[in-house]
Amino acid sequence: MRIGILGSGLMGGKLGTIFARAGHDVVFSYARSERKLLRLAREAGLNARHGTPAEAAREADTLLVAVHWSRIGDVLKQAGTLSGKVIVTCSLPMNASDTALVVAHTSSGAEALARKAPRAKVAAAFGTVPSEVLFGVFAARRRRNRPSLLYCGDDAAAKQVAAELIRDVGFEPVDAGPLRMARYSEPFTLLIAQLAYEGDRGPELAYRFEWFGKQIR
Ligand SMILES: NC(=O)c1ccc[n+]([C@@H]2O[C@H](COP(=O)([O-])OP(=O)(O)OC[C@H]3O[C@@H](n4cnc5c(N)ncnc54)[C@H](OP(=O)(O)O)[C@@H]3O)[C@@H](O)[C@H]2O)c1
Repeated sequence: MRIGILGSGLMGGKLGTIFARAGHDVVFSYARSERKLLRLAREAGLNARHGTPAEAAREADTLLVAVHWSRIGDVLKQAGTLSGKVIVTCSLPMNASDTALVVAHTSSGAEALARKAPRAKVAAAFGTVPSEVLFGVFAARRRRNRPSLLYCGDDAAAKQVAAELIRDVGFEPVDAGPLRMARYSEPFTLLIAQLAYEGDRGPELAYRFEWFGKQIR
């Protein structure tokens, strides 16, 4: 897959690195310094490069949106036309102080993003875990009991891409349904963040859903 990273911070930097190490072509973009993007690309290995958001978008079939909510408009504008592209978003609609959701209950960040990029195919994934756990999950990807990761979306192709990337990182994808399910998964992340950052066991936290009883497929 050719993946453009829009937002190369804690989430985008780590996920882009893992995607590249899993064999995808990755372009890191959107940080405040080009040196940081260069370093990320160098450390991620031969499959990674850096570029502008427009270059990342032009050359990719899939884009990871990983910016603070206040930067969504800017990064989409810099990326340019996203017609037909798959967008996987991990961005949460947090206020400036990261203390509360500014979109919730009757909509979600994922749905708001989809409205801002109406020609793209949007899936929400990766936003329900702290960045600190990502490398650990990737390192443990051959274990039998993988942690779960929720994803949702309205477009079947975008969801397939999200599920593939989730597996590549080392999680077991859990299909939560249509994009509006982000109305539930985004507040769930605040609980995960509370456990990760305010608990006494550290932020390397993932979760696992288990179904008991008869498997219906
Ligand atoms: N961190 C987590 O554990 C976590 C977990 C779940 C969901 N999320 C969500 O994922 C999204 C990304 O979070 P994050 O923690 O990865 O954020 P972050 O570390 O702040 O990364 C954001 C990226 O945007 C870049 N950026 C910010 N302002 C910019 C500007 N004016 N021009 C160019 N680049 C700019 C930053 O540049 P620099 O690299 O130069 O700072 C950084 O690369 C957020 O919506 C967050 O709510 C985060």
